[in-house]
Amino acid sequence: MDLHLTAARPAPEEQAAVDSELGAAESGWEGGERRAELDGRASYGGAGKAGAQRHLLLPVLHAIQKRIGWISPGALNYAALRLDVPPAEVHGVASFYDMFSLTPQPRVVAHVCDDIACQPGGADALCTVLETKLGPEGAPCIGGRATWLRSNCLGLCERAPAALVTKAGGTAKERVLAPTTPDRLQSLLDDAVSDVMPTAADVLNTQLSVPQAGSRQLVLLRRVGRGDSADIDRYQRLGGYEALRKALDLGPEGVLQEITASRLLGRGGAAFPTAKKWEALYLQRGLLKSDPGRKHYVICNADESEPGTFKDRIIMEGDPFAVLEGMTIAALVTGAEQGYIYLRGEYPFAAERLTQAIQAARKDGFLGENILGKGHRFDIDLRRGAGAYICGEETALFNSIEGYRGEPRNKPPFPTQAGLFRQPTVVNNVETLINVPEIIRLGGAAYARVGTENSSGNRLFCVSGHVASPGVYEVPMGVTLRKLVDMAGGVGGTGRLQAVLLGGAAGAFVSPKEIDMPLTFEGARAIGATLGSGVVMLLDDSIDLKQILLRIAAFFRHETCGQCVPCRVGVVRQQEALERLVAGRPVGSNAEEIIILREMAQAMRDASICGLGQTASTALESALARWNIFS
Ligand SMILES: Cc1cc2nc3c(=O)[nH]c(=O)nc-3n(C[C@H](O)[C@H](O)[C@H](O)COP(=O)(O)O)c2cc1C
Ligand code: SF4
Ligand code: FES
Repeated sequence: MDLHLTAARPAPEEQAAVDSELGAAESGWEGGERRAELDGRASYGGAGKAGAQRHLLLPVLHAIQKRIGWISPGALNYAALRLDVPPAEVHGVASFYDMFSLTPQPRVVAHVCDDIACQPGGADALCTVLETKLGPEGAPCIGGRATWLRSNCLGLCERAPAALVTKAGGTAKERVLAPTTPDRLQSLLDDAVSDVMPTAADVLNTQLSVPQAGSRQLVLLRRVGRGDSADIDRYQRLGGYEALRKALDLGPEGVLQEITASRLLGRGGAAFPTAKKWEALYLQRGLLKSDPGRKHYVICNADESEPGTFKDRIIMEGDPFAVLEGMTIAALVTGAEQGYIYLRGEYPFAAERLTQAIQAARKDGFLGENILGKGHRFDIDLRRGAGAYICGEETALFNSIEGYRGEPRNKPPFPTQAGLFRQPTVVNNVETLINVPEIIRLGGAAYARVGTENSSGNRLFCVSGHVASPGVYEVPMGVTLRKLVDMAGGVGGTGRLQAVLLGGAAGAFVSPKEIDMPLTFEGARAIGATLGSGVVMLLDDSIDLKQILLRIAAFFRHETCGQCVPCRVGVVRQQEALERLVAGRPVGSNAEEIIILREMAQAMRDASICGLGQTASTALESALARWNIFS
């Protein structure tokens, strides 16, 4: 396709947004790498020169959206031209993500969460007042200069109800407001349209988000709330980078032995042994020397879009260097010279903190060409997602970084064989990675003495909903659900617990009768539940569970990537059947409609390509198994 023939031309402002993003991307250490690749000395995963910069598509689209407030045909064509990617493909990518608008919209947008943890916090009432004050969702308000939209979970569930305000333009800004009220939100929108919106510097409120802050029992969260988290000296004063120094002395094999001894299981949801993934790349290190085109990658999965999950945000805002240290130790073992943090797009303050931390770590020799003078080369690039839950699935994440739609790939090949740019890749969750320095500091065997045989170490839980003190809690694995609820001050709302959603929208409901379950991987499995991403959402007896189930069904319908039939069709039919049941208009009897729902769930579990389709009915099925909801 001749890109010059496309009709729409960019406005100067749009052209500047693309040019400045591409200029910035090519100026750093990473940029040098990319130039080398463009010069033909190497290529990403065998890709030829055409489209070799495609992996910059997401940052470029962000730059346009941020500057203009939407992605016009002219801007889209210019991005396509600069990146040498067909415009139709750029359109396909831009239309995949919720944070990009392909139609004009006001430069100020309030994204108001009406998801499951914000509902007990009054999200629906908030939206009703906004409709009266500002007009219908999506309509221009405040003189046509702003609008508001309902949103999926914003990862601020401990401070429900939550909103995120974005302002495009030369002075683009993002600001979260949580907890929010209609008046506070309107006043922030007024400030934003008058260009006096404050920056996001006050976002982490430790008192609100980490009720245990300061407790001597904390390990993973011990630095959160203690001083300026972007200050590298403060990080080292509080024990930071001790583990990296020790790891450099231990060497790759020694570090791998400690991780193996720790029995660390991934905290991103699938509970896969971390040492096994690392070992797979460790064993391929020899090939790095013999094949100059070969690279290994380490990726930190910071997409955190599972409704009810916010622990990774708090780590990144409150202790960003710990994430970098964990990744650097992973790189030492795996032979990776390049790492990526894939951060969910709705986390402005975490993006700011991580950017500052990466710069400080480079400056002080903890990242770069020769880490701490020991001859290791490793650097980290931050990539922001753009509002697509599926991009947390590791292979969808690869596609997203590479500049494609975030659609999962078939496995095998597994990421450790062919991951990012088709090269061996280790993907770990943020929480998994911050366990790594602790394992090296304590020794793997000592680390494994905490918790249980099959679930070692401490775990972070995101406690939200009807609870006295919501927030992230750190406890040894094996503590009971009852104990965790007590630590969080007990049941809030009416004080009468109806249900707990464990593991998020892809997780399962448990009943008050199961409150003595141990919070371990095996304990959850034993009652047909999962710890998932650590969500513990309490719902009191004032909540209509049917409405929560409907919201979960709507979430999956919205978030399916649509690539495979069982999931694409299943999530739609599931939502429709649920709507009929809730409205009292089932096809046949309630029992017959439920049989169809269960059969669809089975088909989605058996035949979907990825975990989204496989778990889209788990919460519904767990509720049907425990309660007679549609009697
Ligand atoms: C739909 C879907 C969304 C996911 N989202 C995340 C996420 O936001 N963060 C995460 O760490 N893992 C997520 N995962 C799991 C990842 O695919 C992967 O297992 C994980 O990042 C591996 O890290 P770990 O071994 O440290 O747990 C998701 C999986 C699926 C199927
Ligand atoms: S299961 Fe759903 S989200 Fe996963 S690949 Fe298939 S359509 Fe996409
Ligand atoms: S921020 Fe609203 S549900 Fe998470």
